[in-house]
Amino acid sequence: MTECRVADAAGIARAAETLRRGGLVAFPTETVYGLGALAADDVAIARVFAAKGRPAINPLILHVASTAAARDLAAFDDRAEALAAAFWPGPLTLILPLLAGTTISPRAVAGLATVAIRVPRHNVARALLAQIDGPVAAPSANRSGRVSPTTAAHVLADLDGRIDLVLDGGPVPIGVESTVVDLSRGGSVALLRPGGLTRWAIEAVTGPLAGPAASSPGEPVRSPGLLLRHYAPRTPLRLDAEDVAADEALLAFGPIPLEGAAVTCNLSARGDLAEAARNLFAMLRELDGADARRIAVMKLPTVGLGEALVDRLRRAAETPADDGS
Ligand code: TXA
Ligand code: MG
Repeated sequence: MTECRVADAAGIARAAETLRRGGLVAFPTETVYGLGALAADDVAIARVFAAKGRPAINPLILHVASTAAARDLAAFDDRAEALAAAFWPGPLTLILPLLAGTTISPRAVAGLATVAIRVPRHNVARALLAQIDGPVAAPSANRSGRVSPTTAAHVLADLDGRIDLVLDGGPVPIGVESTVVDLSRGGSVALLRPGGLTRWAIEAVTGPLAGPAASSPGEPVRSPGLLLRHYAPRTPLRLDAEDVAADEALLAFGPIPLEGAAVTCNLSARGDLAEAARNLFAMLRELDGADARRIAVMKLPTVGLGEALVDRLRRAAETPADDGS
């Protein structure tokens, strides 16, 4: 059984104690719920991979309380300092060279020489990290390949009985995962995963972002979580729908949803991308449960947060079993 606790002072203290004795705790961050374990505890980290069904080659993000704590783990250059000063705490993950001699479990970073780090902004995550000595590794608290959780109920739907505790802090304020940028290669900053912090905000600090650099042959996959099909509901998805069939579920956006679907969820009737981000994963879960033949998704703008939303929807639509009709 997984214990579920309201994220008040007593719940957070209980969560900290559970982490300290090697347990797995799901907790809210501003982006999505994370599944935390002490990054130095090799056994606990192995349990995170097992609970999620996550491939061992896919490294975790380390969550720390402050930029000072991050500097103890990774090599910061001027670009990293500038990004941390501008956006931490917040929905930005930096890939940096891992320092030698840390106590991080090699399993947490999948044996790589780089590490993904962020300082979350959510009050519950901050309060929890403040009570923990050392970094907390936390992937999104979903089964591998599935949609990230934005509520405690989503976490339990995927992981009940597989983890020790869920801290319920209500629905998260952003709703898509952090933006991941790679600073480990010198030269320009590469955008590995669009997310809750927009490209435009980052480029104001770094100048134009590059795309992800291709791995050289023989080199480990640079960001395995970015393999195409991911964040996927079970029901097939089609994008940029301009009409909808009676046996389809509709994921609408804007004031004029298409008519005729079996069931409709509107990401934002007023066409607001922040509202759409907050709704995206919950609505995908809801429509996935509606027993429709397929989910049709209306076109979304690709500006601002839209870049992350369209990225997640494209990955969800990438289905090997699509019947093409
Ligand atoms: O918002 C978020 O980032 C949430 C919350 C809980 O913080 N976490 C999250 O973690 O989305 P996860 O594990 O679901 O996604 C982490 C991504 C994966 O795509 C992983 O491959 C990539 O970061 N990553 C981790 N370490 C990396 C590294 N050293 N180099 C490149 N990519 C890395
Ligand atoms: Mg994930």
